[in-house]
Amino acid sequence: MFLTVFFLLVALCTQGGNGKESEEAQRPGHVSVVIVGGTGDLAKKYLWQGFFQLYINQVSSGNTFSFYGGGQSPTEKATPVLFEILKAVSCSNDVSQERCALLKDQFLRLAQYRQLKSLEDYQDLAKHIEQQLQEEGMTEAGRLFYLSVPAFAYADIAEKINSSCRPKSGAWLRVVLEKPFGHDYRSAQVLASQLCSSLTEEEMYRIDHYLGKQVVSKILPFRIQNKKLLDLIWNKHHIERVEIVLKETLDVKGRIAFYDQYGVIRDVLQNHLTEVMTLLTMRLPKNVSRSEEVLGNKLQILSSMLPLGKNQAVIGQYQTYKAEVQQELNKTKDHVSHTPTFAAVLAQIDDAQYEGMPILLISGKMLDERVGYARILFKNDIFCVQNHNNVHCKPKQIVFYFGHGSLQYPAILVSKNLFKPALVDSEWKEVTEHKDISVFGLPISDFYIQTPMEQKEAYAELISHIFFGRKNSFISTENLLASWDLWTPLLSSLASTFPRIYPGGADNADVLDIHLKGKDISYNNEVVIISTDQLGGTSTNGFQVMQGKFRSSEMVSAWAEQLVDKLAADIQEAAEAAIYEGGVFHLALSGGSTPLALFHRLVDHHFTFPWRNTHVWMVDERCVLPTELESNFRSLHDHLLQHVRIPYYNIHPMPVHLNQRLCVEEDGGAQMYEKQLIKLVNSSSFHFVLLGVGYDGHTASLFPGGKVDELGDSLVALTESPSKPHQRMSLTFNVINRARKVALLVMGKGKHELITQLSRVKDNPDKWPVTGVKPTNGNLVWYIDYDALLG
Ligand SMILES: *[C@@H]1O[C@H](CO)[C@@H](O)[C@H](O)[C@H]1NC(C)=O
Ligand SMILES: *[C@@H]1O[C@H](CO)[C@@H](O)[C@H](O)[C@H]1NC(C)=O
Ligand SMILES: *[C@@H]1O[C@H](CO)[C@@H](O)[C@H](O)[C@H]1NC(C)=O
Ligand SMILES: *[C@@H]1O[C@H](CO)[C@@H](O)[C@H](O)[C@H]1NC(C)=O
Repeated sequence: MFLTVFFLLVALCTQGGNGKESEEAQRPGHVSVVIVGGTGDLAKKYLWQGFFQLYINQVSSGNTFSFYGGGQSPTEKATPVLFEILKAVSCSNDVSQERCALLKDQFLRLAQYRQLKSLEDYQDLAKHIEQQLQEEGMTEAGRLFYLSVPAFAYADIAEKINSSCRPKSGAWLRVVLEKPFGHDYRSAQVLASQLCSSLTEEEMYRIDHYLGKQVVSKILPFRIQNKKLLDLIWNKHHIERVEIVLKETLDVKGRIAFYDQYGVIRDVLQNHLTEVMTLLTMRLPKNVSRSEEVLGNKLQILSSMLPLGKNQAVIGQYQTYKAEVQQELNKTKDHVSHTPTFAAVLAQIDDAQYEGMPILLISGKMLDERVGYARILFKNDIFCVQNHNNVHCKPKQIVFYFGHGSLQYPAILVSKNLFKPALVDSEWKEVTEHKDISVFGLPISDFYIQTPMEQKEAYAELISHIFFGRKNSFISTENLLASWDLWTPLLSSLASTFPRIYPGGADNADVLDIHLKGKDISYNNEVVIISTDQLGGTSTNGFQVMQGKFRSSEMVSAWAEQLVDKLAADIQEAAEAAIYEGGVFHLALSGGSTPLALFHRLVDHHFTFPWRNTHVWMVDERCVLPTELESNFRSLHDHLLQHVRIPYYNIHPMPVHLNQRLCVEEDGGAQMYEKQLIKLVNSSSFHFVLLGVGYDGHTASLFPGGKVDELGDSLVALTESPSKPHQRMSLTFNVINRARKVALLVMGKGKHELITQLSRVKDNPDKWPVTGVKPTNGNLVWYIDYDALLG
């Protein structure tokens, strides 16, 4: 009950009372910066340095500052720790040593440690800030709280800030949060709605430090600057694939307690790589500085992604991870973790511009090199007959190189056979002197390369954005939930999958190589390194297709996939024989879900199937409009016909909709189909009829107790099903049993009971309609998979 009510309060925060803040509206004055968790690792490594940078840049701007490092420890204990950290901040190269010393000294004097534990601590802090403002007669510009604490503490701290630390109106409040923002859709939503009760959407700054990386932040400007040229090629027709990759060489030792609950998909793909993907594919905003437009266009991409399922991902785990988990989490030797430390995911966008274009998102620990990049590889339609060094024969690509790797610096690379891009920013420069290195197997002299003149830390960049209230490089609640909406189903479907174990480093060799096929991704080779204790059951792969007898007819049996392969091959063989003999192949297909795998197999593998000479007929149809999902024709169309080159006039749907009504006897639909059949199919003898069998033993739409003998000599009849929709049109045994070949396809564990019964019962078409299938001159083959046969 609680949850239902909760759900209705959907977690979108209020947009804030006093209108949109913007850079211009920001009044100068005093700024209080509070880092909660101010002596922690992140603060030590990046945050204080970032705020020092901000201080240097703002020192003559009319703003004044005070800095507070907050934490759980008492003041006497933590103050010296904080000052050790602060003393380590440094200036960039363009600041002289003397000036730097002076600035550092001022910065240290503006900083202090405060214990921030109880509500009173926060109230005291607020009092202190107000007192200081009053004493020095300063106007307040705003208060910035940076929460560098575990996510479970966010809601509580946000509440304390709301109840005691809000500045007076006219000054801003900004609260910065670090991931994780939940571990799936539901938990992200819970956290978001808790935060929303204390903070408005504008006040929240969810950090994804990737968005502060210099190259990532220039993806949109690059696309805009080169729009004229890119517009022609930035689509499915020209892009071969997009790769967004973050490879790491380190393991996760020491962080297992956190990592084992998250894994690489939550840690990297759901946030960093997804953000890069949206930047690469979103509609270009008219103005990159307008956050609503940027965030809105990102949201649009997120909501037009094809769903991600098991077939769109492969996962791996480095070999020593298991032992690290056992040690750090104090587990026994038989403890097994499914947490992936490597993942490759194939994403696709379902719109006219990108449909079918593969977007690979890949990340992993313990790989061969440390590198991050997004690479757009274009198709190349030039074929050089002789001069293979000719620039036109080389791959065409644009690479956003985030850093490390062979290049060692952040850069944007454009193949020289594409175009020469303009410098993306006045603080960037072209690289013309090359060391003897290569990128993706090509000498870097094949690229136009640009790089920032000065490398800047992502955190320093983002801190400056927060200060200026530029929200376009942060994650809104809505976009966060849209991203979880994309990733959560994949995470659930992978929850019980064993990751492939990889040795780590250069030894991985080709173990993690992946293979793309249509919408699916798989590991490229079958060599699976699995220590025996990782694997639960025994392998069941070795089985071959097996031939036998069922109800005194021929039977083919195999695992589902091989069975479908065999049936598809048999249908093609029958088609080729019929066409050789008489120039045409008449095929009658059943509805239902069982034949879908067969249809997919025919579409994906049987490129030489003679569709041009094939007539497709229907075994049966439900009395519904052909546009409805229940329609057998609709299903046949969606899964088979629309994917093959079959002439329209070779397709014969059953006429269930005549005179604007469904299956009325007087309209004569069944007779019409019969006439058409007699006219086109020699001796009304189909070359191949594919049937299924229902749990109650029905086949085609001939149901138990349906009095099949009362249908007389008709070839097509209206029948009644016990289940909805009740009315059907069906071929009768008169025509089914005239076929040259009839295949009865039965698959799935659910059919085991039925198969067992059928193996025992005598022919009794009134009780078991399927037992009425007895071709007079043709031949019946049962295709039964092992699940149905063996249970
Ligand atoms: C903050 O606290 C006030 C009063 O304590 C409350 O009315 C308000 O809803 C809270 N949240 C926001 C976003 O202001
Ligand atoms: C883009 O938006 C920003 C922020 O809203 C504004 O300051 C700037 O003038 C806009 N630029 C153009 C070219 O419209
Ligand atoms: C590890 O587990 C053992 C037995 O369950 C227990 O005695 C020990 O205190 C645990 N150690 C840690 C560090 O949790
Ligand atoms: C039509 O079928 C009969 C037997 O049913 C066969 O003898 C004849 O060759 C067939 N004609 C064609 C054109 O296939």
